[in-house]
Amino acid sequence: MSRSWTLGIESTAHTLSFGLVDAHGEPTAASSSTVSPDEGGIHPREAADHHKDAAQRLLAQLLEDNSLSPSDLGAVAYSQGPGLGPCLRVGAAIARGISSRLDIPLIGVNHCVAHIEIGRQQCGCTDPILLYVSGGNTQVIAHLDGRYRVLGETLDIGIGNMLDKFARAQGIPFPGGPVIEKLAKEWLAENDGASLEGLELPFAVRGMDLAFSGVMTAAQRLLDHGAELGAVCWSLQEHAFAACVEIAERALAHTGKSELLLGGGVACNNRLRQMCQLMAGEREATSHAPPRMYCIDNGSMIALLGMIELRHGRRTELSHSAVDQYLRTDQTPVTWPV
Ligand code: ATP
Ligand code: FE2
Repeated sequence: MSRSWTLGIESTAHTLSFGLVDAHGEPTAASSSTVSPDEGGIHPREAADHHKDAAQRLLAQLLEDNSLSPSDLGAVAYSQGPGLGPCLRVGAAIARGISSRLDIPLIGVNHCVAHIEIGRQQCGCTDPILLYVSGGNTQVIAHLDGRYRVLGETLDIGIGNMLDKFARAQGIPFPGGPVIEKLAKEWLAENDGASLEGLELPFAVRGMDLAFSGVMTAAQRLLDHGAELGAVCWSLQEHAFAACVEIAERALAHTGKSELLLGGGVACNNRLRQMCQLMAGEREATSHAPPRMYCIDNGSMIALLGMIELRHGRRTELSHSAVDQYLRTDQTPVTWPV
């Protein structure tokens, strides 16, 4: 019995995922399942039912893939927030059950901070500006005085939700972001030297913050006036990503930091990665993005942050293990070295 592995459970929204880190914090590929509704957006209760149904199979698969048994687990971490209440509660209930049955420590972690820590680990960044771009969140973050401080963020919807909603209106199922990327790329390949003339969209920057719903409505209007879907996908990406890159650049300039680190599901996007590289290159900074399996929601990042927090003396008592749908990035004390 080694008890050297930490199990991580991710269940904030559409994905239930179990992941592991070893005693050195080295992650393994996670075992995950994502709901994809036939129509409409994600319904929290339906997603929670999916998570309940998939849990046993996914956990058994993870242990089998890594030739481990439950007795090899030394701690269990789960996403305590932010996210959809019913989904979060499924992950927390599974974590409590495993902790009690195996008599191992329980640790509830901040999902947003987990995106950051897996990125820092995978990319070897020391003190980066973070561009956290996912379905529910769009934030530019820097570490200062024991917290990850939000320097700028979306004032309405997350960039990923915006892409998913726009896609859904065109009949593209969740997740729409990767399909928009593909359509934009194909259109650009067929329209060498394309210009944004006639495809202009409003600018999403509001000081150090962002707002995406106007951009989405305007993109829909372009389609209604006869523009090609591929062209609009391209324009939508160019405008939305340029806005994120602009506030990330300003954050680098204001703080004097020289590393940019991407995280969250939208960080899978090649065009966004390229735009960040270009911006960083122009100001003698570097831009980093973790492997895609660690950008999207995954249990491994939850295991990693759980392990780090346990090492630094925090653990979650059952009486404090309730989920917090509205937990913010800057609410979690960063007690480990950054
Ligand atoms: P959070 O709770 O951190 O907001 P989340 O629930 O949105 O996370 P993630 O897995 O971090 O989950 O991100 C999912 C989002 O990433 C979806 O909106 C999806 O469309 C988007 N996405 C995934 N791949 C791509 C891509 N290649 N291009 C653009 N968007 C993408
Ligand atoms: Fe996420």
